[in-house]
Amino acid sequence: MPLSQDELKARVGRAAIDYVRPGTVIGVGTGSTVAHFIAALGAMPERVAAAVSSSERSTVALRALGIDVLDANDVEHLDIYVDGADEVDPSGYLIKGGGGALTREKIVAALAQRFVCIVDASKAVPVLGAFPLPVEVVPMAEASVRRRFAGGVLGTSGDAVLRLASDGTPYVTDNGQHILDVHGLRIADPVAFESAVNDIPGVVTVGVFAHQKADVCLLGTADGVRTITY
Ligand code: 5RP
Repeated sequence: MPLSQDELKARVGRAAIDYVRPGTVIGVGTGSTVAHFIAALGAMPERVAAAVSSSERSTVALRALGIDVLDANDVEHLDIYVDGADEVDPSGYLIKGGGGALTREKIVAALAQRFVCIVDASKAVPVLGAFPLPVEVVPMAEASVRRRFAGGVLGTSGDAVLRLASDGTPYVTDNGQHILDVHGLRIADPVAFESAVNDIPGVVTVGVFAHQKADVCLLGTADGVRTITY
């Protein structure tokens, strides 16, 4: 029987433990793949010293396992940052933010020496953009940012849709902002595209991780965990 997507996520979550040095402070991302990594962290015989977390959700899970969570402001460098992604391209450029934690994820990723990305094989794509690109925005800029994407950014245009919570009201991030999910993009040059979107007034964070791309990707496939180094 083929392995489920969740089993592939569990395998890469466990495999990422090989990159964790006991006694160090590490960065921890957000999502269902990271939930498996956090569970494996809790089972390590020699623990990490502490973690910096990218979301309230991951903070709760880490503390439940007795792992100390530090404020990012109190840490200068992290050994590694471990996180999932919504898409990963052949150069290690990512789309992230499906879980809404993209801003804190980018902040924590930027503190780390090495970004270990953990994904199941369905996330590997030739070109970023089939997954609707999350963009965290200040609410008063929603309409103008939507128009900018409709008009095109670096030759690709998209339909930016306001993300809603399950009760139908706008989804609010951990930072009190909203998210536009941009459909229909084809991101040929992720580094230039990330910079161009960062320049749009009202954009807090774009879910393209090109300046903070993965250094290593652990890809969960039917044949086992594949390690890709960029
Ligand atoms: C959260 C993220 C996640 O890493 C991404 O959405 C993948 O999630 P999952 O591991 O649940 O598939 O970027 O903001």
